[in-house]
Amino acid sequence: MEPPGLAFAVWMFAFLSVPATGYPNGKVKEACSSMMPLHGHPPQPSPEHSMSVKETEFRPGDHIKVTLSGPVFEGFFIQARNAEDLAGPAVGSFMLADKKISQLLTCGHVKNSAVSHTSKSKKKQVVAYWIAPTDAPEHVQFLATVVEKYKIFWVKIPGPIISQPNAPPLTTPASIAPETLPTSQPVSHLTKSFNASGCGSTKFCIRNPSKCDPGAAYCFFLSFKLDNHSVLIEMSGPSEGYIAFALSHDQWMGDDDAYLCINEDHRININTAYLSGRNPPVLDSENALEALSWRVADGVVQCSFRRNLHVPAYKGRFNLDANYYIFMADGEASGLIHKHQQQPLITKGMYNVTGSPKDIGGSRSPLLIKVHASLMFVAWMTTVSIGVIVARFFKPVWPHSLFGKEIWFQVHRMLMLTTVLLTSIAFVLPFIYRGGWSEQAGFHPYLGCTVMVLAIVHVVVYFSRRLHRLFKIFKFIYMVTMFLGMDLPALNLPDPWDTYTMIGFVAWHVGIDVLLEIHSYCLIRKVEVIDDDRIQILQSLTSAEAKGHTFKQTVLTIYICGNTAFLITFLAAINQL
Ligand SMILES: *[C@@H]1O[C@H](CO)[C@@H](O)[C@H](O)[C@H]1NC(C)=O
Ligand SMILES: *[C@@H]1O[C@H](CO)[C@@H](O)[C@H](O)[C@H]1NC(C)=O
Ligand SMILES: *[C@@H]1O[C@H](CO)[C@@H](O)[C@H](O)[C@H]1NC(C)=O
Repeated sequence: MEPPGLAFAVWMFAFLSVPATGYPNGKVKEACSSMMPLHGHPPQPSPEHSMSVKETEFRPGDHIKVTLSGPVFEGFFIQARNAEDLAGPAVGSFMLADKKISQLLTCGHVKNSAVSHTSKSKKKQVVAYWIAPTDAPEHVQFLATVVEKYKIFWVKIPGPIISQPNAPPLTTPASIAPETLPTSQPVSHLTKSFNASGCGSTKFCIRNPSKCDPGAAYCFFLSFKLDNHSVLIEMSGPSEGYIAFALSHDQWMGDDDAYLCINEDHRININTAYLSGRNPPVLDSENALEALSWRVADGVVQCSFRRNLHVPAYKGRFNLDANYYIFMADGEASGLIHKHQQQPLITKGMYNVTGSPKDIGGSRSPLLIKVHASLMFVAWMTTVSIGVIVARFFKPVWPHSLFGKEIWFQVHRMLMLTTVLLTSIAFVLPFIYRGGWSEQAGFHPYLGCTVMVLAIVHVVVYFSRRLHRLFKIFKFIYMVTMFLGMDLPALNLPDPWDTYTMIGFVAWHVGIDVLLEIHSYCLIRKVEVIDDDRIQILQSLTSAEAKGHTFKQTVLTIYICGNTAFLITFLAAINQL
């Protein structure tokens, strides 16, 4: 069986570990090339901070101590670049002097090619060591971005220039005119909410719940609209943190093309990331997106952007004219921890988002978990309950022997063995799905294991025909486990419908049980009365018993019909997820 569930789990794990785009933790990789904080404010003109080095010359392999100092600041970002190409990539790598306040980042393909802050703590000085690479350019200049406060920062503050021995003098003196400063992501504000008009006719839409209105507070919405060679993508959904979607070749983690809209300090940053293997995705420093705009209203994050069908220059972006599974996820984006709020949504099949427009939904429940729940419902609502009633009340009804055992016992044993079989199959599925123990499922997995152990012990004890009565507790644990399981995020049957329906079922089961119990009691009383009268004993007894048997069989039939109705209701609900 294909366990797509694992993919969700791992994908979610990946999202749990997405580094924050914001600055408090210094994971400012998207600033790699521009060195510009995406704070949405212009940088300050005249820098107050400066960098210093002792050397003026360097050789490959040298460690150069770089000091950044000035008035108290919160954030910083230091790189070395070719002094003759300050718009080019970072050069060389760094070593930290103080891991508490500084950390290494990888810009482009050069590991540890930038240093940034670890927190917003106030500092006046930072030291790091630059290691000259073997292929270093002749002249290297240090550049720093310094954030004093959220709105007050300086970008690409020019630092000292150091040169290789015998290098010709620098021809074009490095100067960074303010007008050449890179600007932050050109992002505009959406003035209106998205709408679903055109879904299925002019644009490809994914909506959850299906057919919901993207303006509504509970609606997750994603649409793709192709004009010419460019695709307009609109995404919205309720979230405190990020909303994201990813294109995937399969239902497994790895090799996925992801797009994230991350709410940071009341601003939305729109990013792309390539999800490779089980590694946490790294937000791309540059992305292929255009016409970015966003809006946050009433807790709903909305963002829209354009992308060309093919963007060969950007590794990790898939062509938009092929078939993919599409995931949608949301979660918190505060600090480093991106806790998911719910299971990601995944389309049931692969879709060509630029092909014929469709209006589809998706499922937040992994197939394995749905099968797990379904098997448990089948076991609980049919085999266990009926098996128990048969053993309790049908000994006198079906006393005849069949293949060497009484019929009631044959029926009971068959139902109970089926239960154990169903439970065993269902039992392994969540382990396959999670790839291990389900950490965040509360008591449900513990009770589930107890049920499994009891079921096996039950079988063993059964054949030794002892201690059998003790296993009433089994039914109780089974029931509690079902109640707890129904609302776990991986299944999440509609609330409070599921609880009420389940209570209805328990009432139905107990009602029938009590009815049969009363009936048995009356039958015994009747037989005793007849016995006392000592008239026509045999005849009356037989007719009373015969009537009793008919009654029991009728009740059992009704009971089975009722259980089947409950079961179908639940299975239908699971299928809807
Ligand atoms: C839906 O949005 C489109 C594009 O913004 C707009 O042209 C159209 O008038 C809107 N439709 C409705 C019913 O608001
Ligand atoms: C698509 O191309 C046509 C003609 O080439 C042009 O008129 C139209 O504005 C383009 N649409 C967009 C959205 O770029
Ligand atoms: C997806 O749709 C586009 C536009 O209709 C089409 O050109 C492309 O061949 C389709 N791709 C696949 C794999 O069907």
